[in-house]
Amino acid sequence: MDKRPIGIFDSGVGGMTVLAEIKKRFPNEDLIYLGDTKNFPYGDKSRETIIKLATKCAGFLISQDVKLIVIACGTATSQALEELKKIYKVPIVGIITPTIINIKRNTNPSKETRVGVIATEGTIRSNKWEEELLQEIENVKVFNKACPLLAPMAEQGWTTNNVAKEAIKEYMKPFIDKKLDKIILGCTHYPLFKELIQKELGNDVEIINTGEKIADYLEEYLVNEDIENSKNHDGECSYYLTDTECNFIQVASRLLQDKEIRNNIQKMNIE
Ligand code: DGL
Repeated sequence: MDKRPIGIFDSGVGGMTVLAEIKKRFPNEDLIYLGDTKNFPYGDKSRETIIKLATKCAGFLISQDVKLIVIACGTATSQALEELKKIYKVPIVGIITPTIINIKRNTNPSKETRVGVIATEGTIRSNKWEEELLQEIENVKVFNKACPLLAPMAEQGWTTNNVAKEAIKEYMKPFIDKKLDKIILGCTHYPLFKELIQKELGNDVEIINTGEKIADYLEEYLVNEDIENSKNHDGECSYYLTDTECNFIQVASRLLQDKEIRNNIQKMNIE
């Protein structure tokens, strides 16, 4: 049993799709969310810059005495997870491993599994998803596509309008004739476009929201490590942003259907 909070970070509002799944699954746990909105987007930055920024985010969460850090950002997971693990002792979980474990459990190695991966430029450049899928899953074929406009659009709250529809249509084009079994939303902003993606690819394609897979993973992890908060209380969420001149509040409030978010946000300088 460990009553300390779980720390979660992303460059912006995308990681809130992960927080939403964790909050649903672990109502007892206190959560601290950091959105590095001042440095958004991470997706087009160099690996060195991502490592520097992710180190600061993790350092801030550790200063808040978290028991575990969830990197709710595909870009930071793909490029900084290994480095952060070298620097900090606190357990750190990214979005890739929990997702791959889940896919491995749910695929039949005697049949080819065709997996699409959509993510930021930085994540696709790192090739991490493809590497880990090929390493862990037998008989898998991977199709990658960077979708650099989607995270900035999600930050604007443009996830269902005509611009979003056109962007998804364009980004999904290369997958149409690929007979995909699954598509991984390799950026945590992308679940905000889930309906449009499903519509474009059809209902036979499983859309993988990494937040759900992290929640599955944590169910086992917290128990195995004996760090779950079994105190009977309503878990509290605190939100920190490195800049508040953004649409975070509107998008996050809609996502979590929680108008109180506004009252729980603090501006924080992590430089
Ligand atoms: N939500 C992020 C990710 O999963 C970052 C998007 C960005 O900052 O470009 O990659």
